[in-house]
Amino acid sequence: MRHLMSPLDFTKEELDKIFDLAGDIERHPEKYAHACSGKILATCFYEPSTRTRLSFESAMTRLGGQVIGFSDAASSSASKGESVSDTIRIISCYADICAMRHPKEGAPMVAAEKSTIPVINAGDGGHQHPTQTLTDLLTIRSLKGRLNDFTIGLCGDLKFGRTVHSLINALVRYSGIRFLFISPEELKVPDYITDMLKERGIPYEEVIRLEDVMPRLDLLYMTRVQKERFFNEEDYVRLKDFYILNEEKMKLAKEDMLILHPLPRVNEISVEVDEDPRAAYFKQAQYGVYVRMALILTLLNIQPLPEGGTSC
Ligand code: NCD
Repeated sequence: MRHLMSPLDFTKEELDKIFDLAGDIERHPEKYAHACSGKILATCFYEPSTRTRLSFESAMTRLGGQVIGFSDAASSSASKGESVSDTIRIISCYADICAMRHPKEGAPMVAAEKSTIPVINAGDGGHQHPTQTLTDLLTIRSLKGRLNDFTIGLCGDLKFGRTVHSLINALVRYSGIRFLFISPEELKVPDYITDMLKERGIPYEEVIRLEDVMPRLDLLYMTRVQKERFFNEEDYVRLKDFYILNEEKMKLAKEDMLILHPLPRVNEISVEVDEDPRAAYFKQAQYGVYVRMALILTLLNIQPLPEGGTSC
């Protein structure tokens, strides 16, 4: 039995298989419509979510399976003091696979240790968000045709943004990737990440102004300032509108630069940019369903049969 805690839990070859499967699901959804019939996904979300939870639920439903769960710690027994370890033991009796989001770093890992069903980390505090990374990689692979040889700018809250941490971890395994980290001083990427990049000899630069590096980027990964991880409101208010990507700034970008964003967006991309053909963030959310369908099939070890049926 396998869990997914970090994008590195899969080899590059395994990721390729998941992306190929996601591509097949996109082209032939009918082949997979009953693949998970009789299976149950539990979504245990101790933190708010729209995309991640609903795309997991949509994925399982589109595979013919069913979904149970909670979307708020207050409506679960966590509010009575139950531990994550106890909760997952119970969920293991009710479901075949579990997606868990938790504000504490490492909580899904603690759950995985006690679980008898696969556990997927759907975001743990400011740490990791591996299924967003699968979504990001599939989007890049589908729209750019490759996962190597590009310059990616990551902009915004690089300190608390777990999607950023997971994406960097995953991208270092591909050749020819150059990172440009664009953030205010207070929201720089953590040292453990830059130390890892130095150790591996992977080129990166840290800058404050987006305009300065825009013309060099093949991909721009925008992020929201993570309000819920700040210790005081004042700092958040000071930093929240540090970056606003607008039409004017987009004039500096390459014609085929892609803009990605895990969403939700607050103010960091103005709505006028949505009409720009380089804006890929809504498409990205669609890829999130295909890749989660492929992930569920992979972790449940369900293989589609050649004639379109499925087997466990
Ligand atoms: C992200 C998250 O929860 O980390 N959202 C998502 O899952 N798409 C990004 C964010 O909340 O800023």
